[in-house]
Amino acid sequence: MTAVADRSLGPELARTVTIGTDADVLVVGLVTTDDGVALAPSDEFTDVLGTDLRAALTERLRAVGAKGKGEELTRIPAPEGLGVTSVLAVGLGAADKVDAEQIRKSAGVASRALTGVGTAVTTLSGLDLGAAAEGFYLGAYNFPVFRSDKSAPKPDERPVRRIEFLVPEPDFGEEALFRAQAVAEAVATTRDFVNTPPSHLYPAEFAARAQQLAEAAGLEVEVLDEKALAAAGYGGIVGVGKGSSRPPRLIRITYRGGAKKVALVGKGITFDTGGISIKPAANMENMTSDMAGAAAVIATVLLAARLSLPITVTATVPMAENMPSDTAQRPGDVLTQYGGITVEVINTDAEGRLILADAMVRASEDDPDYLIDVATLTGAQLVALGTRTPGVMGTEEFRDRVARISQQVGENAWAMPLPAELRADLNSKVADLANVSPHRHGGMLVAGLYLKEFVPEGVQWAHLDVAGPAYNTGGPFGYIGKGGTGVPVRTLIAVLDDIAAE
Ligand code: BES
Ligand code: MN
Ligand code: ZN
Repeated sequence: MTAVADRSLGPELARTVTIGTDADVLVVGLVTTDDGVALAPSDEFTDVLGTDLRAALTERLRAVGAKGKGEELTRIPAPEGLGVTSVLAVGLGAADKVDAEQIRKSAGVASRALTGVGTAVTTLSGLDLGAAAEGFYLGAYNFPVFRSDKSAPKPDERPVRRIEFLVPEPDFGEEALFRAQAVAEAVATTRDFVNTPPSHLYPAEFAARAQQLAEAAGLEVEVLDEKALAAAGYGGIVGVGKGSSRPPRLIRITYRGGAKKVALVGKGITFDTGGISIKPAANMENMTSDMAGAAAVIATVLLAARLSLPITVTATVPMAENMPSDTAQRPGDVLTQYGGITVEVINTDAEGRLILADAMVRASEDDPDYLIDVATLTGAQLVALGTRTPGVMGTEEFRDRVARISQQVGENAWAMPLPAELRADLNSKVADLANVSPHRHGGMLVAGLYLKEFVPEGVQWAHLDVAGPAYNTGGPFGYIGKGGTGVPVRTLIAVLDDIAAE
């Protein structure tokens, strides 16, 4: 097993009451107001900079045309007496509309502009220390593990090493920074897993890495290998995994923090070729992201433990590689899901629902109060909602709660229905269910209806389809770079927080 990627590669985050002598760049926020551009925040951090420096900075930024529009960047030489070489001003947009997500995005943009810088110091902590810290940390994320020079090719392309957050007094914001760092590291762990190529991350390796992280955190871990899976009747995981020379796994990680129980389930297809129903070559490499749901729920149970949430959280994670071969399952095969429901596999590329159904039935044996599954499940999610908006389905009340919380944290999941009339399209001529409908209508919803068959009565359930949002195939934006995004880890931890606070 190769070592888990070294997250000490992430930037150091610290608090400071003064601009130290080792800071290279000062990052300030700008807002647009009726009187033109202004520094933000405007109140309690005034003393750190002092009235004269604030006036000098504002004047210079105005002189070079800074407007303070959202994520606008302006870099100027520092005025005398500031102790840094340059000032990077980042726009936050209209003064009365600055929220945590805007701060996160602007901090992320600033962080990406700081490549090559050693230490940056920022006043964005005066707006929201936690959001600023998350934005800076995630904006500085990089994944050099597969570069021959692990520290990135050139010094001026290395992410910023250290970010200092100006605070009014030494004990200000300790808790907020601890939490922000924990959350950001969980997102980075998820990104690392997603960005690790399928050559290096196959089911046994993925399970071993997750096990290593969980045991290091003192959590309970159970791993089922292909023999144990077959013996226990996990027909979905075995069926999907049997085309690959790299056999499937099921890993369960439990954090016990209280009486209320939340089951997390995540799709862990380490590579999705489609199987015998093989995908076209164009963009197939993106199917390295087909384990993003698994990565997110693994990182989330670890994070719940790190934050000592007063609830019990179990991640149940099926892992398989979907390959075509002479041992692969065929279109027309019938398999038996864990628990006994039989399925006609019409399309081997609808594999996610097959491994998830087994895992959801297993997870439900623990009698959870809530069940949340996360999956890069359908191309139809991208058709319906685009690249950045997860779809959330499930039992209505909990579905709406998850969507609302997701929007609050800036991951923006949108509630989608499970229309009853589409269910009949999953009837099979030979088995209890077919794994696909005979048409393309509402593909994301049909997949949700398939999973619904495996959710027990009385369990509050949410199904998150993150096919697009989990993996950024375009250019960087805000605090998100290319590749794995870590979506929906921040939604999941916020939902767990909300459940813990009930
Ligand atoms: N992993 C894919 C879904 C996907 C597509 C994820 C694009 C990320 C980006 C999934 O296993 C799949 O192939 N789904 C099929 C389902 C169909 C056969 C009913 C799809 O969406 O085409
Ligand atoms: Mn598929
Ligand atoms: Zn898939």
